[in-house]
Amino acid sequence: MSVMYIRGGMPLEGELAVHGAKNSVLPILAACLLAKGPVTLTNCPQLTDVTAALGILRHLGCQVEQEGNTIVVDPTGAAGSAISEEQMRSMRSSIIFLGPLLARTGEAHLSYPGGCELGPRPIDLHLSAIRAMGCYVTEDQGIHCQGRPVGGEVQLALPSVGATENAILCAVGGMGQTTITNAAREPEIGDLQSFLNSLGASVRGAGSSTIMVEGGRPLSGGTFRIMGDRIVAATLLSAAAAAGGRVRLRGVDWRHLATVLSVFHQAGCRVESRLKYVELERGKGMPLRGVPTIRTAPYPGFPTDAQAPVMAALAASQGCTLFVETMFDSRYRHVSELIRMGADITTEGRVALVRGMERLHGARVEACDLRGGGALAAAALGAEGTTVLSGLRHIDRGYEGLEKMLCSLGADVERREA
Ligand code: EPZ
Repeated sequence: MSVMYIRGGMPLEGELAVHGAKNSVLPILAACLLAKGPVTLTNCPQLTDVTAALGILRHLGCQVEQEGNTIVVDPTGAAGSAISEEQMRSMRSSIIFLGPLLARTGEAHLSYPGGCELGPRPIDLHLSAIRAMGCYVTEDQGIHCQGRPVGGEVQLALPSVGATENAILCAVGGMGQTTITNAAREPEIGDLQSFLNSLGASVRGAGSSTIMVEGGRPLSGGTFRIMGDRIVAATLLSAAAAAGGRVRLRGVDWRHLATVLSVFHQAGCRVESRLKYVELERGKGMPLRGVPTIRTAPYPGFPTDAQAPVMAALAASQGCTLFVETMFDSRYRHVSELIRMGADITTEGRVALVRGMERLHGARVEACDLRGGGALAAAALGAEGTTVLSGLRHIDRGYEGLEKMLCSLGADVERREA
């Protein structure tokens, strides 16, 4: 088991190209099941969740090659319709294979995805979407779906990202016209739409709350570049805000980060948003300030995945900041670890009050989930002394070489066997 030794106190300086988005490549890998020929994906992040998704594709009979940040999936030999419990548990978002698998084979047999460290991860909206497209779904020791999806009206009770993606994939692989209302608007859904349409699909409306799909069109193979990861960018900007210095990030669309950039601007950082890059600067003598309430919300609101990293930066600031986590029941597990570093944070249910300290101090801390791990690394960079961060298996799910990224910006981070 490895740990990170992070020595705080040095400002970050430099420029970095942000790697491809985990939450875009995962549904796009599942979508490869709908193609009739090989698909080449570039700018893919090298993450353990991606490795798990490739394992599921291979289990279903696809040929999969990965070389660096390029993945080639040839689904022509795929015949399976069942995903093992072990594979479903290996990755929280394995449920995204349900829609394309059902559309491709006319049946799908999966177990429930693992209960997540963020609280329960229900899939009722996924299943109701599948039913709305005329398929038969039973939940008897797992999930069993039968039938060929036909067009329908999918009304999502919540703008669930995963349920929206599953509905799109099922509709693309099925027949007829499908309308999805109250759809999630996250940028990763736009990337999925672009990918599917590049293979010959007809998906319209991604980014809005209503998405229309014309099913039954044959999808060719093709080549597609995965968008940059806006949450990795938010984490690196949080690290720069915590440590001070000046960091420029390329490969991400600043509009996908607008709410996070606005928070750091209000906190006293210089923020520059250009088509080709985003930049954040905080001078040594410019302490962060507390900001008005940060309430997480579906896109284009403040992203729940950025809550922990931004909280970590604001834990050392002048003033207070109130956080309201509206998306998940248990997304404050990083708070106890930040308190070990000297933070003053009180939580009550989904509310957290951060009273800014002048500075945090190094400590032995453990990542309990993916974004909480990124948050602790960001906090450690601004802290006095050295922090020893464990639980790196969580971090490796969504950050490709976090220590390398931070070192390239001048941080003193070393990954060692514990
Ligand atoms: C996606 O998860 C992301 N994961 C999450 O990122 C992100 O936090 C989340 O969207 C919200 O933005 C991927 O894209 C792989 P949801 P997802 O369905 O699709 C409830 C990360 O750190 N809900 O939009 O699982 C659910 O409980 C990860 O990269 C139901 O009630 O999220 C939650 O409260 C963490 N029934 C809310 O909706 C359902 O059937 C939003 O969940 C589905 C969801």
